[in-house]
Amino acid sequence: MVKLALLGAGRIGQVHARAISMIADAQLKYVFDPIVEAANAIVDSHGAIAASMDEILGDPDVQAVLICTPSDQHADQIQRSVIAGKAVFCEKPISTDVDTTCETLKVVDENQGCLMLGFQRRFDSHFSALKAKLDDKTMGSLEQLLIISRDPAPPPYDYMKSSGGLFKDMMIHDFDMARWLLDEKVTSIYAVGEALVDGKTSSHGQDIDTASVLMTTETNKQVTILNSRRASVGYDQRVEAHCANGTLQVNSVRETNLVISNALGIAERPLENFFMTRYQDAYRNEIEHFVTAIKKSLTPMVSGKDGLEALVLAEAAGKSLREGRPITIGYS
Ligand SMILES: NC(=O)c1ccc[n+]([C@@H]2O[C@H](COP(=O)([O-])OP(=O)(O)OC[C@H]3O[C@@H](n4cnc5c(N)ncnc54)[C@H](O)[C@@H]3O)[C@@H](O)[C@H]2O)c1
Repeated sequence: MVKLALLGAGRIGQVHARAISMIADAQLKYVFDPIVEAANAIVDSHGAIAASMDEILGDPDVQAVLICTPSDQHADQIQRSVIAGKAVFCEKPISTDVDTTCETLKVVDENQGCLMLGFQRRFDSHFSALKAKLDDKTMGSLEQLLIISRDPAPPPYDYMKSSGGLFKDMMIHDFDMARWLLDEKVTSIYAVGEALVDGKTSSHGQDIDTASVLMTTETNKQVTILNSRRASVGYDQRVEAHCANGTLQVNSVRETNLVISNALGIAERPLENFFMTRYQDAYRNEIEHFVTAIKKSLTPMVSGKDGLEALVLAEAAGKSLREGRPITIGYS
């Protein structure tokens, strides 16, 4: 039985606590959240014990820590956890700046730590099927990739303040998807963005909520990413891969597959409302993968380096937006 502890009992913390409860050989032993009611909700529903971070890190029974706290807390918590000898699953991003991310990865390496990043779309059955089809080469070479990610509504301002902004908080998933599907380096990026959803109110003028990015790769493939923090249709998550021998598409997932046809027309059901339901299976799959990696001493499929490289693209997108020009991505 792999015993785990959860840091942060908010939206995604609750999703991961549920995922752990569905895995036969995993047990959530502790939860820590400074908001006692948040921790207690998980204590009550999953039989975990509320504890401090020091108590969690000091218990040799705990093999792994899941970090689901605000993004500006991840780096410090990763470092403390690997120094204490715990395997770490961390939500994206590792940090909102590249230097802190590199410093954190250095600490992970020095302690021979295990770090997996929470890019759950790699564990989604629909996107995995598209990836497998690209990899079997029957479609010929990929020429254009289109990734559309739109949230139903913006998150609360308190969340936004520590998120690092749209590119590092939201589009970072799409940067990882692009890297994963392309399997080659992105060499340039051009970004445009605006606060179109509700002027300057939801982000208090600190962030954009609507962005389009165009990237090119080392073999001149073209990648477009579209993000919005508003979609009246629901949680809009699509990918289209245009290849030499045809096109692959994954469409947004509906609440059910039911189609109602009558004299008024033909109606399909609404899209899944948000990430908690749309990616429910993917979250369970990624935590199962993490638990298996711990049990079998394997390296998890999504590494700290994947987190760093997605952040580098997010940072370059921000620079492109500020300077109004394409940015070349250098690799050392
Ligand atoms: N992979 C995904 O699809 C996905 C989805 C949502 C959020 N996230 C990421 O997960 C993280 C959390 O997001 P959220 O939406 O759950 O936020 P949230 O605000 O709902 O929850 C964060 C929780 O962490 C607690 N917290 C704050 N400081 C803490 C500390 N030092 N130690 C322990 N707990 C602490 C807060 O009290 C809160 O309950 C963010 O980094 C975000 O980028 C990822």
